[in-house]
Amino acid sequence: MNNPIPKAFEEPYSPILYPIAKKKYLKEPSLKPEDSFLDVLVNRRTYRKFVRLSEDQLSAILWHSAKATELQFQENGFIWSHRPCPSAGGRHPIDLIISQPEAINTRKLALYNPIDHSLNELTLDTTQCLQFIEHINEVVPIGDATIIWFIADQFRTESKYINPLSLIWRDAGAFLNSLQLVCCAFKIACCPLGSLGEPFISDLFGEYTPMPIFGVGGCLVG
Ligand SMILES: Cc1cc2nc3c(=O)[nH]c(=O)nc-3n(C[C@H](O)[C@H](O)[C@H](O)COP(=O)(O)O)c2cc1C
Repeated sequence: MNNPIPKAFEEPYSPILYPIAKKKYLKEPSLKPEDSFLDVLVNRRTYRKFVRLSEDQLSAILWHSAKATELQFQENGFIWSHRPCPSAGGRHPIDLIISQPEAINTRKLALYNPIDHSLNELTLDTTQCLQFIEHINEVVPIGDATIIWFIADQFRTESKYINPLSLIWRDAGAFLNSLQLVCCAFKIACCPLGSLGEPFISDLFGEYTPMPIFGVGGCLVG
């Protein structure tokens, strides 16, 4: 059972050392939604046909669903941040992995940095990467969709709360809702997937941190 009691002492943070090959800053988005917020709520639907996103569309989705707008750096190495969706303790334990449309066997994965609004191409095992993409494609055909996958870094929440798992799952739900509403606001298709992306996510990223890291779902957008 979850009992999110704050720990008496927060443990120092050791970050995931993602294998970043290339950083690309995204521009601040120029797109503006036409509908009111209440219309977006009324019109929200899951769509399963996808077209290739423009860079401005991808930037708008990430900016309005995930970008950090306030930061506090703590002495133990953790960051408290404010973003469009809530997160237990402001820890935001979910990192976003992005795969933009390409042929299935050449798709790459990039890490979204919510602080500097950049995409960071990752050097990963190509076989494991392909296995992950093929797995997603079996759940819902990906075509020209952009994959946005959620990776949980358990330690961010665990260092602050006893029994962190249910907090992380609720964080994933909170983010999923924000992401789909933002897509609807920009009239971009978004389909959440029931898969967690396991064991592929653990296999791909486990070696970059000594702490538990696992997939907590994701979406196809486009
Ligand atoms: C956690 C979660 C997992 C889902 N998994 C899938 C999935 O694997 N495949 C799919 O086609 N739709 C999936 N969906 C979308 C639901 O099928 C969809 O939300 C539901 O049919 C209601 O339709 P609506 O979102 O348009 O209201 C998922 C939705 C959620 C919230």
